[in-house]
Amino acid sequence: MKTKILMVCLGNICRSPLAEGILKSKLDSKKYIIESCGTSSFHIGSKPDKRSIEIAQKHNIDITQQRAAQFKQSDFTTYDYIYVMDNSNYSNIKNLAKDTQEKEKIKYILNEIYPNKNLDVPDPYYGGEQGFEEVFQMLNKACDSIASKLKATE
Ligand code: 4NP
Repeated sequence: MKTKILMVCLGNICRSPLAEGILKSKLDSKKYIIESCGTSSFHIGSKPDKRSIEIAQKHNIDITQQRAAQFKQSDFTTYDYIYVMDNSNYSNIKNLAKDTQEKEKIKYILNEIYPNKNLDVPDPYYGGEQGFEEVFQMLNKACDSIASKLKATE
């Protein structure tokens, strides 16, 4: 059975598509399924934001085939690990969890590099290009940590 990992943000067009693409680039697709979604319905069916596509491309990662989806309750059963980008994603999906086992699947992605701090990956949607590079760098570090922990359990 493949290990399934879900990356969650608000719109599923800026941060979580990058997190999905970055983690996919570090893990064997024969062993892992990595997907992303948003807590909102705003962008269902859309491609990632042009600026996320460009920053990924600059780092040799292709995210152009991704299409935005909305988080759903059954994702708690489908996925083994759920990583959220910020506090508001955390509370939004925590409210949909039906028991502590589901709640405990939700992790702040930046806790991978700043343990227990519950820090937000800043939403770059309303900012400039620089914001996307910063987001890429923090997600890359967090995904390095996730990938090495998972590989250690293979
Ligand atoms: P994301 O960024 O959650 O990183 O995909 C956003 C994208 C769109 C909106 C908000 C955040 N929006 O309000 O449309």
